[in-house]
Amino acid sequence: MTGRIQMFKPWFEAAEHEALRQPLETGWVGPGPKVKEFEQRFAQYVGAQHAVALNSATAALHLAMLVSEVKDREVLTTPMTFVSTNHAILYAGGRPVFCDVEADTLNIDPREVERRITPQTRALVVVHYAGHPCAMDELVGIARRHRLTLIEDAAQACGGTYGGRKLGSIGDIGCFSFESKKNLSTGDGGMFTTDDDRVAERVRKLRWMGISSGTWDRFNNGHPGRAWEYEVEEVGFKYGMNDLAAALGLVQLGKLGRANALRRRVVERYREALEGVEGIELLDQRAYGQSAHYAMIIKADERDALSDYLAAHEIESAVHFYPNHLLPIYQPYAARLPVVEAEWKRILTIPLYPHLAAEAQERVIACIQSFAAERAAGRAVPQAAGL
Ligand SMILES: Cc1ncc(COP(=O)(O)O)c(C=O)c1O
Repeated sequence: MTGRIQMFKPWFEAAEHEALRQPLETGWVGPGPKVKEFEQRFAQYVGAQHAVALNSATAALHLAMLVSEVKDREVLTTPMTFVSTNHAILYAGGRPVFCDVEADTLNIDPREVERRITPQTRALVVVHYAGHPCAMDELVGIARRHRLTLIEDAAQACGGTYGGRKLGSIGDIGCFSFESKKNLSTGDGGMFTTDDDRVAERVRKLRWMGISSGTWDRFNNGHPGRAWEYEVEEVGFKYGMNDLAAALGLVQLGKLGRANALRRRVVERYREALEGVEGIELLDQRAYGQSAHYAMIIKADERDALSDYLAAHEIESAVHFYPNHLLPIYQPYAARLPVVEAEWKRILTIPLYPHLAAEAQERVIACIQSFAAERAAGRAVPQAAGL
């Protein structure tokens, strides 16, 4: 099998194409009935009282920080994430306090969290890295003992579980991403989940400029008074999802279980083939939950050389993530975090998506194995081994 092997790929089939027909034909492509249906089905799926559909997880994280009132307060967080998680703290005027991670999952380390709590701490945001659940019992316990709002960044964890509960439904607030390559993809999109009625109501207003009710409801759902009347009590944002994205989301939600099971099968094959390969290490999979298997992360002693070797064989790979606390923007919040500073230099993301063909996956495996064998034999690795 030849050709470029992508690292991520959304799984769209005929049903997604078909789902776009109705909003296109009716002409209602803004926030409307599809968004409502998607919110109801998503809330039911994750086991939350409320789900508010947004245009990204970044928006969900921003609103999570706003409603948690982190302004001028500290928020405990991880550096091993996409910058959205930590930018959201800055958007809301909070101070990120970076905590080190567990070496074998790269998730935030609960002992570090507890150690860095001060009287200024207001909230804790945890990221289920690559879809693998954080140690939620410990983290929930810490949040409750210290009266912190617990925000789950479940951007990479849609469908994953901890102790039988869906990730994103365990803390006070869940933030999900439906960005192009996520487990559930709507091109771009996100969801805010909570059991708190008042928080949900406020987030519904904040997502649309602070306006008291949506256009669809005012014009179609027996709005008291004239349909064009509304109130604005605080400054909001243009963060809502539209019906095109929601129509895709409904189909993607319906097949999420199947998609994640396919992801798991790909991961199991990688783990079987790469376990024990010299110079390669796998992350741990804790028995307390089930990963959503968003990304396949390996650790490689010669990470950059392996990435170049894969590229020479038309196999994509990348590093997720550059530790946020080392970025120039986060220098005012710098911390010494020995585990993440050592481990990030070895991590590499290799191809994983539900419909990754078996032959393509075998090509990836063979390429990593041949790289390791050449290195073990002390040879310079050829850039094209005819795989
Ligand atoms: C952990 C994490 N948080 C937040 C985000 C932001 O998601 P979105 O692109 O939907 O804003 C991402 C997306 O890559 C992510 O991986």
